[in-house]
Amino acid sequence: MRGSGLFIMPRMSEILAVLDFGSQYTQVIARRVREAQVYSKIYPFDTPATTLRQDGVKGIILSGGPASVLAADAPLPDPEVFRLGIPVLGICYGLQVMGRLLGGAVEKSAEREYGYGTLSLSGTSPLFEGLPSSFRVWNSHGDRIIALPSDFHPVAITENAPFAAVENSGLQFYGLQFHPEVVHTENGTRIIRNFISGICGMKGDWVMSDFAQSSIREIRQTVGSKKVILGLSGGVDSSVAAALIHQAIGDQLECVFVDNGLLRKNERQSVERLFRDNFHMNLKTVDASEMFLGALAGVTDPETKRKTIGRLFVEVFEAAIQDTSGVDFLAQGTLYPDVIESVSIGGNPAALIKSHHNVGGLPERMKLKLLEPLRQLFKDEVRQLGAELGLPRELLWRQPFPGPGLAVRVMGEITAENLNILREADAIFQHEMRQADLYYKVWQSFCVFLPVRTVGVMGDERTYDYVIALRAVESQDAMTADWAQLPYELLRKVSSRIINEVKGVNRVVFDISSKPPSTIEWE
Ligand code: XMP
Repeated sequence: MRGSGLFIMPRMSEILAVLDFGSQYTQVIARRVREAQVYSKIYPFDTPATTLRQDGVKGIILSGGPASVLAADAPLPDPEVFRLGIPVLGICYGLQVMGRLLGGAVEKSAEREYGYGTLSLSGTSPLFEGLPSSFRVWNSHGDRIIALPSDFHPVAITENAPFAAVENSGLQFYGLQFHPEVVHTENGTRIIRNFISGICGMKGDWVMSDFAQSSIREIRQTVGSKKVILGLSGGVDSSVAAALIHQAIGDQLECVFVDNGLLRKNERQSVERLFRDNFHMNLKTVDASEMFLGALAGVTDPETKRKTIGRLFVEVFEAAIQDTSGVDFLAQGTLYPDVIESVSIGGNPAALIKSHHNVGGLPERMKLKLLEPLRQLFKDEVRQLGAELGLPRELLWRQPFPGPGLAVRVMGEITAENLNILREADAIFQHEMRQADLYYKVWQSFCVFLPVRTVGVMGDERTYDYVIALRAVESQDAMTADWAQLPYELLRKVSSRIINEVKGVNRVVFDISSKPPSTIEWE
């Protein structure tokens, strides 16, 4: 979703601009900069230099990208960017495009250089201040620079690249053929820090507590005496947004929590306890479980389930706030990765595998102004902010839970009985994962209900009951995932507890499929 709403922009003393040429690593660059306590912002590659000047940008990084600068339609930055008098660091495509625009030459390599290389420093450069004379770097590029623009000179080479690192120290332009932002490059973080502090002269004083305080001031200013409504799901993003806005405007914030009947055991109670009892927030719970389960009766197709749930959520939420007069703002926990104007250059937009459920589309229909105080933050920054605001670790570090909830974990038809079986089994699995100190070490761990009956024996009796599958995966970003190698002892305990304690289950299996080709959720 591309947010069109109100841009709460706490004043940043220092901004580093990352011009995005479509690299898969653009966000990683922005993250690395923020780790150095400097506020980074990702801009489309062709952002006018005047915009960067107006924003008070103090340094520019040109990202990599999939295109070839030799192509007729190669994405180019505004050439004025090089006349702003601001230091520029070009990475990979960023180096090639800078080299080409400033008068150098680029050629297609005979073969794509991909993987590790050894960088050897051939001169001194502030970019490599404090670093050893040789270390491992990560390459991924097709084209390469063969002639430098005037006043540029090489400062490091790799086996295959005489211009692996180049600079024009007078203009403070630097270029790297390799990727300093990825973890495979040794000292990469230090190189980026050297650029930020040594070359751009930034202090690095962006801290979360300042962000919280300035956001709170901005929210107060923006909202004035008006009311704000927020759909609280109990997930990290909406919870942190709620805590932040609540600190700013107290009871002018009303949170709406929709119980869709697809939640885990005790989930609604724990949301109510935390936000209503602990934080004393104005929280309205809407019990819409009957409506959801009614609409889902007989539905077995996963996409129909998701669409039904998405549609009903909007209806229920709209109805819930009908009677809330004087509301001007709809708050959402939109994060930075959701609002970055993604550039698609020669890349394949990921095919739609599952239609993920979120509340996009709501504000247009409701004629409310959007309030999105987290739109500049990455997920782990949101967690830091949540900790500043006093939210508990269990909430901030909880595993992801899909919007359609248990609906996509009950295979086939969703009935109250099947949901209950799944809830009880899942509570046991979660409990044992925590006991084994593994809950926070995996990406996700949950149960799936299979509407298949198999034969078993309990005592002297034959049983004919359902199957529960355990799913546990390790992942960085949910794009790919490996099944987690849980200890046999834990699996044994979970299986025996589920079979003994959950009526209706006589068999537990463990899912050993990775993504791809499987997905994390079963539906
Ligand atoms: P899959 O099953 O596609 O899931 O491998 C990847 C990640 O996304 C979560 N997921 C969802 N999250 N709404 C969400 O908010 C959804 O409809 C949805 N479907 C899957 C899933 O739990 C995993 O973390």
